[in-house]
Amino acid sequence: MSEQVDTVRAEFRDRLAAAADAAALEAVRVEFLGRAKGRIPALMSQLASLPREARPAFGKAVNELKGYAQAQIDAARERLASGAAPETGARTDVTLPGRRPALGRRHPITRARNEMVEIFSRLGFAVAEGPEIEDEWHNFIALNIPPEHPARDPLDNYYIRDNLLLRTQTSTVQIRIMETTPPPVRVIMPGRVYRPDTVDAGHSTMFHQLEGLWVEEGVTFAHLKTVLAMFVHAFFGPEVETRFRPSFFPFTEPSAEMDVSCLLCGGKGCPACKRSGWMEILGCGMVDPNVLEAVKYDPEQVTGFAFGFGIERPAMLKYGIDDIRLFYQNDVRFLEQF
Ligand code: DAH
Repeated sequence: MSEQVDTVRAEFRDRLAAAADAAALEAVRVEFLGRAKGRIPALMSQLASLPREARPAFGKAVNELKGYAQAQIDAARERLASGAAPETGARTDVTLPGRRPALGRRHPITRARNEMVEIFSRLGFAVAEGPEIEDEWHNFIALNIPPEHPARDPLDNYYIRDNLLLRTQTSTVQIRIMETTPPPVRVIMPGRVYRPDTVDAGHSTMFHQLEGLWVEEGVTFAHLKTVLAMFVHAFFGPEVETRFRPSFFPFTEPSAEMDVSCLLCGGKGCPACKRSGWMEILGCGMVDPNVLEAVKYDPEQVTGFAFGFGIERPAMLKYGIDDIRLFYQNDVRFLEQF
């Protein structure tokens, strides 16, 4: 039944558009709204023959059409009276459904970083950033990395010129923070880092790290373990376990690496964790007294811990992404999934 109403409406529109003067307009009015034989009153008179349930909706549709037709005729009459040119050419059909604009979304790296920042914020960590172009003091020397250390090989770094390079780690920002802020400091430092690695599914020459630092009187390794365990449980889930292995970094003593129980097999052993049940995700340790001295902190007064990890790997594990290069190709088919 409602098709009938739609048909009359469409024909009314065509006739109205063709009516170029007052007489033609009046003819359209009589044809559609005329009391005796008008097509719209005729529709209304069908109401009685309809099944009872169908009447309200049909009556409403016809009434709506009637109001619409009357308003259109009035408007057209006014247009003609005021001498305005009749509308020609393409008309906008305001009854067409709208087109929904494509919505943007956060890049998965941004999303993972925001989530990490949020978790550490809850633990009282402030957020800081530092420059991506660094000098040797902040990237190496103050971090207790001596000139003969293999990490300083020019082939393992993007040098811009003497003493100036793209930072290889966000640990540089630790130094900048401590140089400019007296203790206590409790801060995380997310950012991009650069290394001339061979690009493959797990490596990129640019990637993101998140560095953490807490220096204050009485900070111990127990604080370090607690903060990192809380982070892992909040980011990956309460069922994920952590373990710490002794390790070495020039800027921490003692140093450790933290593993999480394999996020794919839950610790049973699978190809992703090389059948060990564990995945390494970060480096950490107690800030080396040499580093505290380099930034003019008193190692007899304060102690602290630091940690650093790549953002891509946890993001890949959490979102089930198997190739790091997908992050940087900006393929909307990939990005739309987040
Ligand atoms: N800077 C290290 C890296 O890029 C990660 C790291 C390890 C940061 C131990 C730290 C730390 O702050 O204490 O591999």
